[in-house]
Amino acid sequence: MNTKIDNLESCLVLSNGVRIPCVGFGTRQTPSGDVARDSVRKALEVGYRHIDTAAAYGNEVSVGEGLRLSGVKREDVFVTTKHWTDSRGCKQTVAAAEKSLMALGLDYLDLYLIHWPAVEKISPDWASLNADTWQGFEKLYRDGKVRAIGVSNFLPEHLEALKATAEVMPMVNQIEFHPGYMQNDVVDYCRANGMLVEAWSPLGCGRLLSDPLVEKIAAAHGKSAAQTCVRYAMQHGHLPLPKSVHAERIASNAEVFDFALTDKEMAVLDAMPETGFSGFHPKDAPAG
Ligand code: A2P
Repeated sequence: MNTKIDNLESCLVLSNGVRIPCVGFGTRQTPSGDVARDSVRKALEVGYRHIDTAAAYGNEVSVGEGLRLSGVKREDVFVTTKHWTDSRGCKQTVAAAEKSLMALGLDYLDLYLIHWPAVEKISPDWASLNADTWQGFEKLYRDGKVRAIGVSNFLPEHLEALKATAEVMPMVNQIEFHPGYMQNDVVDYCRANGMLVEAWSPLGCGRLLSDPLVEKIAAAHGKSAAQTCVRYAMQHGHLPLPKSVHAERIASNAEVFDFALTDKEMAVLDAMPETGFSGFHPKDAPAG
């Protein structure tokens, strides 16, 4: 299904045929203003062609500025943003997407994601809240405002419920994924249902970068711990979204095409003890 992956322009292919560059630049916790603008511009300058943001990050305006200042053509960049929990429902979702488009200064998105599922803990109607929101996503998709639609932080139970009413199934599930937090049940569900897994916090939010096991494997390849973690997600067939605001890290985190982890190294990283998660657990997803 996928073509050769040997640089930042190499693409994976979503279930609807849309091509998605194999490493994305993450902007979670990147402050709006100069920092977001300049880091996005830097990422595009060193060759990233996929930028991931969210309404809740509060940096869409600056991300849009960075896109424009980079001089890279709109059609050559894959842009994802996410719908926040305060806009659940069909109409609200369409309005939220329009607001994000306006903030980014774009007239279409490449990928739009439900940031967090509505969950049992929030409302007994969680399943219909997600279904209504998803109707908005399907409308945006049909109207050509977004080239692909998906979810983030959905567990199999949330996806299974969505399946009951969805006319178009999500093409992507963006979840936290890194050594020590692999969410195998979610990954298996996504694989079986044709959804690409995107890995947020592939560096474990920075925690893995001083892990002796990761450092040892990295040293064996003359690579950094960060590059090792990005490569690890890629070799699992996932799409990593490393985040940094530092120019040299932005560049080096993407130098992941000149080495490969061995099966044994992959197995060692797979077996790492749980290092915990970096945001909410989906069962405790934010209410909005
Ligand atoms: P900074 O933005 O200051 O570089 P994740 O992508 O897993 O969420 O990890 C992001 C965290 O890791 C951020 O705190 C980021 O800090 C840090 N980070 C990203 N790349 C590197 C790197 N190459 N070396 C050290 N820290 C990094």
